[in-house]
Amino acid sequence: MTIHLQLRMCQRNNTTKTPLIVLGIESSCDETSASVVKDYKILSNIIFSQEIHTQYGGVVPELASREHQKNIAHVVRKSLKESHTQLKNLDGIAVTYGAGLKGALLVGLNFAKGMSIALDIPFIGVNHLEGHLYSNIMDIQTIKFPFISLIVSGGHTQIWKVNKIGEYDLLANTVDDAAGEAFDKGARILGLPYPGGPEIQKISTNGDPSYIYFPRPTVKKSKYNFSFSGLKTSLLYKIKDMDKKKIKQNIHHIAASYQEAIVDTLLDRVERISHNEGISHISIAGGVAANKRFREKSEILSSKNNMSIHFPNLNLCTDNAGMIAMAGYEKINNGFYSKLSLEANPNLSL
Ligand code: KG4
Ligand code: ZN
Repeated sequence: MTIHLQLRMCQRNNTTKTPLIVLGIESSCDETSASVVKDYKILSNIIFSQEIHTQYGGVVPELASREHQKNIAHVVRKSLKESHTQLKNLDGIAVTYGAGLKGALLVGLNFAKGMSIALDIPFIGVNHLEGHLYSNIMDIQTIKFPFISLIVSGGHTQIWKVNKIGEYDLLANTVDDAAGEAFDKGARILGLPYPGGPEIQKISTNGDPSYIYFPRPTVKKSKYNFSFSGLKTSLLYKIKDMDKKKIKQNIHHIAASYQEAIVDTLLDRVERISHNEGISHISIAGGVAANKRFREKSEILSSKNNMSIHFPNLNLCTDNAGMIAMAGYEKINNGFYSKLSLEANPNLSL
C-alpha cells in the first residue's frame, strides 16, 4: 500500500466531516516559516530566510532568535492571507519543537502556544526530522513500506529505515559534521558566503569533479556511519600549497571536486544499505537534497541498480513550515495534541 493511500485512509476513518485546516510554524534554525494545509494540500508556504548570518559564515543563534521574533507574526499573517484562511477557520497548529537551536525553537513554540490559547484550538509539537521525512512523502504515490530515508541537512546526516509512519530504525549517522555542514565549512574555506551548499553548487557548474581527488571518508568499525569533518581539513591542505591566483582560476574545479566527494559518500551508503537491506525505495530529504549534482548522480545510480530514489520538490528541501504542517496535520487528524507544558528540545531525535 502506498503512503499516499494510507494517509487518505487515516483521514477517512476519522469522524471529522469537513477537512481540517492546520497552520504550521517552523523556526528551528534560520528560516522563519508558516504554512497552511487543508485536506493534505499545502495552500501556502511562506519562508523568510534570515540573511543576517551570511556575513558571519554560519548561523549565530542569538541573532536567529531575534530575527524570528521580529518576523514571525508577519510570516504567519502572510501565510494565512495567501491561503485565503481566516484565523477563525483554523482547526489546529503544528509547530517544530526540536531538534534545533533552543532560542529559535522557543520563538515558534511560544507563538503557537499563544495562538492555541487565544483561538481555543489544539496545537501539536512536531519533530523537525519527521517534518523533513514528510517533505518527500506527501506527493509520492508509488512509495512502499518499508523504505529507506536519508535525511541530509545542515544539522543531520542520518539514514533511517521507515517501517511505517512513526516507526523508524536508525541505520547510519554522522559521527561528526553533517553533510550540509561540510558544504558550509568548505565554502567558507573557499571564501564563499553562507549557506555554502548552493554557493558550491553554483560555482561548480562547468567545473571538473576529477580535478582534485578527495578521499571518500569511512568510519572505522562502522559499516554505514558518515564522517565529514576530515574532508574540510583535506580541502584546507590541498589549497594550502596552491598560490592565490591558481585557486581563483580553478575554484570551479576545486569546488566541483569537493562536492563530488560529499555526493559520492552519501550515495555509497545509500547504495550499500539498499543492497544489504533489500529495500529499493529510497527517499532523500533535507537541505542537501536540493543539490543538483546529488540529484543527477542519484538518477544514474537508481537506473543502474533498479532503485527508485525520490527527492522532494526544491521548495520543500530546505527548512519550511509546509513539511511541519503536513506532519502535524496527520497527527491532529488522528486526534493527537500536545500539552501547553511541551518544552523545546534542541536534541530531539526521531
Ligand atoms: O534542511 P536545512 O534547510 O536546515 C537544517 O535542518 O539544517 O539545510 C540547510 C543545509 C545547509 O548546510 C546548506 O548549505 C545545505 O542545506 N544546502 C545545500 C543546497 N541547498 C542547501 N547543500 C548542497 N547543495 C544545495 N543546493
Ligand atoms: Zn532542516
